[in-house]
Amino acid sequence: MAILQPIPQTIAEAARHLRAGGLVAMPTETVYGLAGDATSDRAVALIFELKARPRFNPLICHVSSIKMAETIAVMDRRAKYLAQRQWPGPLTLVLPRRADAKLSRLATAGLDTVAVRMPDHGVALDLIEQAGVPIAAPSANRSGGVSPTTPSHVEAEFGKRLGIVLDGGPARVGLESTVLDLTGPVGVILRPGAVQPETIQASIGELGAAPTEGQPKSPGMLSSHYAPRRPLRLDPDEARKGEALLAFGPAPGVEGYAAVLNLSAGSDLAEAAANLFAYLRMLDEMPGVTGIAAMTVPERGLGVAINDRLRRAAAPRPDPAAG
Ligand code: TXA
Ligand code: MG
Repeated sequence: MAILQPIPQTIAEAARHLRAGGLVAMPTETVYGLAGDATSDRAVALIFELKARPRFNPLICHVSSIKMAETIAVMDRRAKYLAQRQWPGPLTLVLPRRADAKLSRLATAGLDTVAVRMPDHGVALDLIEQAGVPIAAPSANRSGGVSPTTPSHVEAEFGKRLGIVLDGGPARVGLESTVLDLTGPVGVILRPGAVQPETIQASIGELGAAPTEGQPKSPGMLSSHYAPRRPLRLDPDEARKGEALLAFGPAPGVEGYAAVLNLSAGSDLAEAAANLFAYLRMLDEMPGVTGIAAMTVPERGLGVAINDRLRRAAAPRPDPAAG
């Protein structure tokens, strides 16, 4: 795998690779994406294969402009208003798929809706624009695992199986985008992320209730997700043997833990979000650690998205064959 510094030549090379149906790891402000041409069945099939992702889980199509979004999705007033205010940025809109959209059916998992986002990262925007097509890009990790926030995380996931990683530095936000469903009369947040419900409500009014766990509208809402290999439990009373502590805030009681990492000693939720996936990976690899005990964070602002990821990491693990 080549980790390339993003200069005009390497971005052009990556764009050519995408147009030829190949895959590239693309930096974004949230997490690194495993990028492929969303109009190509072959490229999208490769993404599913490399991630070992269940086919029914549709992908986000990344665009470099609102104009490009309108070639694949029907944008009503709410969608345009939000896109004008939040794009580029960590907000994904689920919208009706245009009847004449040139999109792989696999990318949208056969649904008549499509998830669209314009990432806030110069390298991603250049790459998409030069590829000239919407780019399908799930997080660049094996399905169910921890999302990558650095090029070396991507390398650890796919090694030689992926040719090109564009190095956009550590992901600024560190958590995946907020997914907002705008296909019904009221907006519904399907996945919490960096863009807060209050911000969305200020633009388009009241939001509806999220679908319940039993019948996920967004398959990314499946319970176990974002999971390190080692078992993870939440809000420990005391250390178990071999356990490492993933802490938040001023020095907690750390007696008995094999290791301690603090997401943010100063209780800064943005700092904690940016560190979350990298720290989970570090604890997964630390010698002598057999399990992870994680403190949840205050349930406000970005804390809602951080706790969502932690709860899924702690959820009972499905049969690996299910992805
Ligand atoms: O920040 C992000 O969104 C990252 C970066 C790479 O852009 N991408 C990402 O993609 O997290 P992925 O594939 O890991 O998550 C996509 C989420 C899933 O929860 C999926 O179920 C949902 O979006 N989704 C995609 N298309 C959908 C659709 N048509 N209807 C409902 N949910 C959809
Ligand atoms: Mg993911």
